Amino acid sequence: MTGGARGLGFAAARGLLEHGASGVVIFDLSDVIAENSNKLALQALRVEFPAAKILTQVVDVCDEEAVKEFIRLSVNQLGSIDILLTFAGIATGGGATIDVPMHQWKRVLDVNLTGTLLCARTAAKYGFTSPCLQNTYIYDKTDDGSGKWRLHRFDVVLGGEPGAVPVPHRRI
Ligand SMILES: NC(=O)c1ccc[n+]([C@@H]2O[C@H](COP(=O)([O-])OP(=O)(O)OC[C@H]3O[C@@H](n4cnc5c(N)ncnc54)[C@H](O)[C@@H]3O)[C@@H](O)[C@H]2O)c1
Repeated sequence: MTGGARGLGFAAARGLLEHGASGVVIFDLSDVIAENSNKLALQALRVEFPAAKILTQVVDVCDEEAVKEFIRLSVNQLGSIDILLTFAGIATGGGATIDVPMHQWKRVLDVNLTGTLLCARTAAKYGFTSPCLQNTYIYDKTDDGSGKWRLHRFDVVLGGEPGAVPVPHRRI
């Protein structure tokens, strides 16, 4: 869960736990994780879901090396990544769009767009080994123009190697 120390991300983390997630790793910035009200909310979550592993990691989603390192660590801690939710995001600061300085706009793109891509593609690589993803299929039209539909295994569509189940291989 990126940007999960407060707000929508925190609520979504709670939602996953309510629906039986065995663990969640929250990525967020250090000052936000350290903020007292966020720390208290996290403690309360651990009390409410004592059987779940609820972890936090200080990660700036724009930092490619940190994203790689902490997603690898999260897989070690939880066993697999079955779901990635990317709530880390910022806005331009409230002024009229017509006046937003370009450095602010570029920072929004860095966090909201590039940060999301970095997390998604790194997690996807680990997701190939997740039983959850290997059992997920998408239904798609064939590439041969026949208009027929067929099933693709989702981990294969994402770029993983086909495993034991022979399925059509298509990259997105
Ligand atoms: N709340 C809304 O009504 C609403 C509406 C539309 C879109 N959004 C978007 O949804 C997302 C979540 O909204 P929210 O209301 O919970 O916002 P929020 O500010 O409460 O939460 C965003 C979280 O992302 C974290 N974050 C920011 N930059 C980061 C970075 N570089 N690396 C890691 N974490 C980072 C923040 O520390 C914060 O905890 C945001 O992208 C927001 O723009 C929210």
